[in-house]
Amino acid sequence: PTFLKVKANKLANPFFVGMAVKAFQLTNGSQYDIILKNEFSSISAEYEMKMDQISTASGVYNWTVADKIVAYGNANNINVHGHALVWHNSVPEWLKNYAGTDAEFALEVKKYITDVVTHYAGKVKSWDVVNEAADDNGGTMRNTIFLQRMGPNYIKDCFQWARNAANAAGDTNLLLFYNDYATSTNIPKQNRVFSIVDDLKASNLINGLGYQMHNTYLSPTKAQIETDLNKAVAKGLRIHVSELDIQVNQFNDISTFTNERRLAQKAKYKEMVQIYNALPAANKYALTIWGMKDNESWIPYSTELNHVGNDWPLLYDANFTIKSAHTGFLEGLD
Ligand code: G3I
Repeated sequence: PTFLKVKANKLANPFFVGMAVKAFQLTNGSQYDIILKNEFSSISAEYEMKMDQISTASGVYNWTVADKIVAYGNANNINVHGHALVWHNSVPEWLKNYAGTDAEFALEVKKYITDVVTHYAGKVKSWDVVNEAADDNGGTMRNTIFLQRMGPNYIKDCFQWARNAANAAGDTNLLLFYNDYATSTNIPKQNRVFSIVDDLKASNLINGLGYQMHNTYLSPTKAQIETDLNKAVAKGLRIHVSELDIQVNQFNDISTFTNERRLAQKAKYKEMVQIYNALPAANKYALTIWGMKDNESWIPYSTELNHVGNDWPLLYDANFTIKSAHTGFLEGLD
C-alpha cells in the first residue's frame, strides 16, 4: 500500500501528515505504532497535553504522559504539535476555582505557559497557544474564564509569554498558532478570528492559524474553505488543518456506513487534501487527522456535538483497515 507521509514527502511542496494520538497507542509494535511510523510525519496529543492533564496545582505538573507522547515523536522523527496551552474546556479544577485576584490568576496562566513552553523547548515544534477564543454567535469573543479574569488583551498576553519563554530557552523557531473551528461557514466568527490574528500580527506574535475542520460530507463547500484559507494566505500565516474528520451521519439518518456515504466521504477527504496541497509552500505546515479509528473518534454519540447516532469519520475502521477515505486522501496528493 502507499503510505500517506511517503506520498506527501514526494510533493514539490511537502507538508506534515498529522495524527491525533493518545499515549496508550504508542506501545512499541502496536497496530497504532506501526501505522503511525508508516503513515504520519506529525502528531498532536488528542487531550494529554492540555492544561487539565498537565497542571495538578499552582506550579505543580504531571509531565509523565505528555513526555511520553513528545518523546515518541522525537525518537521517531515525527513532528510534535503542542495542543493546547490555553483552552476554556481544559481548565484544571484548581484554576477554575481560583480564589486569588484577577491579577494573580493572570500570573498563574503566565507561569503555566512559561513552564510548559520551557519544558518542551526544542522538542515541540509548534503550539496552539490559544484555542477557540472566538464565540459561535455574533462574532464576539467567547466569554471564557480567561476573558473574564484577564481582560480582552489575554490572547496577546498568552502569545507574548509563550514567545518569551521559547526565546529564553533558545527555541527561537517555535511556531505559535491560534486554533479555532467553523470559520468557513460562520462569517461573523471568521471575521472575529481574523481580528484576533491581525492584533497578534501587529505585535509579530503569531506564525500560524489552525483550522480544526471538523467537517461533514456536505459542509463546508470547497469555495467556502478556499475563501477562508486564502485570507490566512494573504496574511502570511502558516495554515494547519489541525483536527480534520468528516462526519457522514450528522443527521443520524443512517444506521450503518452506507456505500453512498463512503464514496461521499472519500470525495470530501480528497477535496480537503487538494485544497491544502494547492496552498503556497510558505503557508503550509501540517494536515492533521483527529483520531486513528472510527470507533475511537470523539464524534459518535457526542453530546458536545449533539450527535445522536453513530458515525464513521476517520481514515481507518475499527479493525485498522484503511477505508476509501484513506484512498481519497492519497488521491488528493496527486
Ligand atoms: O481515557 C480516560 C479514561 O482513562 C478516564 O477514566 C476518563 C475519565 O476521566 O477520561 C478518559 O479520557 C478522556 C479522553 O477524551 C478519552 O479519549 C478525557 O476525560 C476527555 O476529556 C477527553 O476528551 C477530549 C476532549 O477534546 C477534551 O480534552 C477528546 O478526546 C478530544 O477529541 C477533544 O478534542 C477537542 C480539541 O482538543 C479541540 N477542538 C474540539 C475537539 C473535540 O472536542
